Amino acid sequence: MSAEDSVQSIENSATEAIEHTNSLAELEAVKVQYLGKNGIVTEQLKRISSLPAGERRGFGQAVNRIKVQIAGRIQARHECLEQVSLDQQFRDQSIDVTLPGRTGTIGSIHPISRTLWRMEQIFDRLGFTVVEGPEIENDYYNFEALNIPANHPARAMHDTFYISDHVLLRTHTSPVQVRFMKEHDPPVRIIAPGKVFRCDSDVTHTPMFHQLEGLSVDLDVTFADLKGVIIHFIHEFFEAEPKVRFRSSYFPFTEPSAEVDMGCVFCGGEGCRICKHTGWVEVLGCGMVHPEVLKHGNIDSDKYTGYAFGLGIERLTMLRYGVSDLRYFFNSELSFLRQF
Ligand code: FA5
Ligand code: MG
Repeated sequence: MSAEDSVQSIENSATEAIEHTNSLAELEAVKVQYLGKNGIVTEQLKRISSLPAGERRGFGQAVNRIKVQIAGRIQARHECLEQVSLDQQFRDQSIDVTLPGRTGTIGSIHPISRTLWRMEQIFDRLGFTVVEGPEIENDYYNFEALNIPANHPARAMHDTFYISDHVLLRTHTSPVQVRFMKEHDPPVRIIAPGKVFRCDSDVTHTPMFHQLEGLSVDLDVTFADLKGVIIHFIHEFFEAEPKVRFRSSYFPFTEPSAEVDMGCVFCGGEGCRICKHTGWVEVLGCGMVHPEVLKHGNIDSDKYTGYAFGLGIERLTMLRYGVSDLRYFFNSELSFLRQF
């Protein structure tokens, strides 16, 4: 084989080796094999000095030519492999920008909160201020100060959750009445919304529910004022004039006492499961504050009179939105809550 031919065959084999590389590491190995310090092409260059003078020039030119060509091919292959590895990287980390995004879901206001806010606005316009009392209450405020002494039969009506002998979960918001009167002189005009607890559960009762207490104490407050405020409230709340009745009733802490019923919106008064076939749903209890209660609040019952009421927030919400089971409000069913 002539020197020229052997140089050509080196170039051919280098070209083939380069084409067959599949990674930058393999390519680097081929580069060392041919162009490295002891590489095949380098060895040929070293041979030049040992050739007869007449052949040196031609051979040298031939070796240099393939050296340049091989280096060029390696460079081209390098770029190609780099592109392949970059493409692979992009494929591995690909982001499909056409996929629908994962948006955060936004909650909505619970129907009970929404109703409570509406009630607060209505009473605010009537001059009532919002106050709060503790959910864990003692016997004195929940019963004693409300003229319900130990062994009074009214205690049995309350189905109380006791924490210890004298500590309990409040069964109504009425304890806030005395708490507030002890700290403030008349005129008093407050509402006290909040959670209350009773061992009770059916379509119109849940063990935890919300009441809104109202209390107004001043000179010359009468039952007519109470009636006016309640009727005005109901008209505002329902944005209509639904059927309402005051039914005489009994509470140890008011005298006289009444309960207010609304015509059942579910049966139109015909009688159904929700109104227990009476055509009416009880929404609140009320009356003129008992002198004993004023006394516990350090208010002179000869000089001042007052009225109080305690309404069931869930009951009014269910009547306003036509919710047929009060328990829906608390079982966290999203399909129910999303309707509001
Ligand atoms: C009371 O709790 C009295 N403290 C109300 C009161 C306040 C009277 C001030 C006089 C003066 P009663 O137990 O009836 O009364 O409850 C008041 C309202 O709470 C009821 O009319 C009803 O709307 C609602 N309610 C009572 N029990 C439940 C229950 N388990 N689940 C949902 N709502 C209830
Ligand atoms: Mg009642």
